[in-house]
Amino acid sequence: MDEPVVELTGWRDVNEALRRKEARQALYDEGAVVMGDCLLTLHGDPHRDRRRLENRLFRREVFDVWENQLLAQTLTDTLAPFRAAGRGDLIVIGYRLAMSLTAHVAGIDHNSADPEATERLYGIVKKFSEGATLVHSTRNKDEVRAEVLAVMDEFDESVLQPAIARRVALIGEVTAGTRPENELPQDVLTTLLRNQDRLDLPQEVIRREIAFYLQAGAHSTANSLTHTLDQVWAWGADHPEDLQRARADKAFLQRCMHESLRLEPASPVAWREAVSDFEVAGRTITTGTRLVLDLKAANRDASVWGPTGNRFDPHRQVPDGAAPWGLSFGAGTHACIGQELDGGLVDGDMSGGTTQRLYGTVAVMAHAVLEAGGRRDPEAPPVLDPASVRKHYSSYPILFGAL
Ligand code: HEM
Repeated sequence: MDEPVVELTGWRDVNEALRRKEARQALYDEGAVVMGDCLLTLHGDPHRDRRRLENRLFRREVFDVWENQLLAQTLTDTLAPFRAAGRGDLIVIGYRLAMSLTAHVAGIDHNSADPEATERLYGIVKKFSEGATLVHSTRNKDEVRAEVLAVMDEFDESVLQPAIARRVALIGEVTAGTRPENELPQDVLTTLLRNQDRLDLPQEVIRREIAFYLQAGAHSTANSLTHTLDQVWAWGADHPEDLQRARADKAFLQRCMHESLRLEPASPVAWREAVSDFEVAGRTITTGTRLVLDLKAANRDASVWGPTGNRFDPHRQVPDGAAPWGLSFGAGTHACIGQELDGGLVDGDMSGGTTQRLYGTVAVMAHAVLEAGGRRDPEAPPVLDPASVRKHYSSYPILFGAL
């Protein structure tokens, strides 16, 4: 018999349900070929222990290095051919930027100045995503699983094993005292390899964790960049002074990113399954019930966000107790570990060892596109993906150069 399903759409209900320890992650059960035992699917103590370990990397002083050094190079490398051509497709630009940046964060050695290598890696990651989201697939699931396993083998041999070998050698030198610790790469793979003995981390779990990180970072970052610029250009058509401001003021652009992310969360729905009975939204959720949590609807809930809650407004007063991006980074124990990396710190917060203000990588990417004269191509409007029920663009032609 199918399990009972309860769908929640209200802000308070979704916010509460995401924080309940009696509810485990349930969206990726069918996608275990990629997602089995990765951070997002662990529950209880195993999740707490893995998250504690990975949180050591996701610190503000490391975000500072990623945003201000790593991303600067990635932007220069990735935008160069498009700037030279005076045009490009925002979808391609977004995926190349997000893929290169995420490869570094995950611990894959990658040259962001090599577009073919970036495209190859992106091809691999797309197959991993197909495996992770098997629950929504209309294809034969065993066929997809077999394809994912074949790509996983190829990834392991040509990408992951060389990355592991380099890091194991570096860790060995640090242990032997011949290399200072601060010369180790700051990435997820190094963090896992250094602590392999403390947690139960067999090779295949490390492989899936890195495969998961590559998708978690790449798709949501690219998606959010497209939506941010799309909203800024649409709003800017009626509010030219705000478009000018977005070009000059990264803090304002960061505000636009948060508002756009609230309206278009990269993962519009979260699933949970009750592992014991509990109450939410005034009703009892019995063990085994599947909760479908509609983040997109909650983020537009008029009782919290007001009657204009479903509209983009970068000057909106954010309701007390809510984040400006709503629930788009999740909440509770599974809240996104990359939130401050992509979304930055709010209101110029400088705590936690940062040397410069952190706007978040998405706002910095959007700013670089605008600074290069990035604008919609008036001759070629963006195209929505006909295969998707979501607001998902398959192409978004843009121009670069003097305005
Ligand atoms: C705009 C960009 C992003 C959005 C909207 C986003 C959204 C989310 C959401 C909604 C969740 C929770 C899912 C759930 O509770 O079922 C999540 C978890 C997670 N995200 Fe992100 N994410 C973004 C960027 C990133 C980046 C850049 C990384 C890493 C490089 C990342 C890594 C993760 C990880 C590891 C988790 C699992 C956390 C846990 O289970 O403890 N995300 N993200």
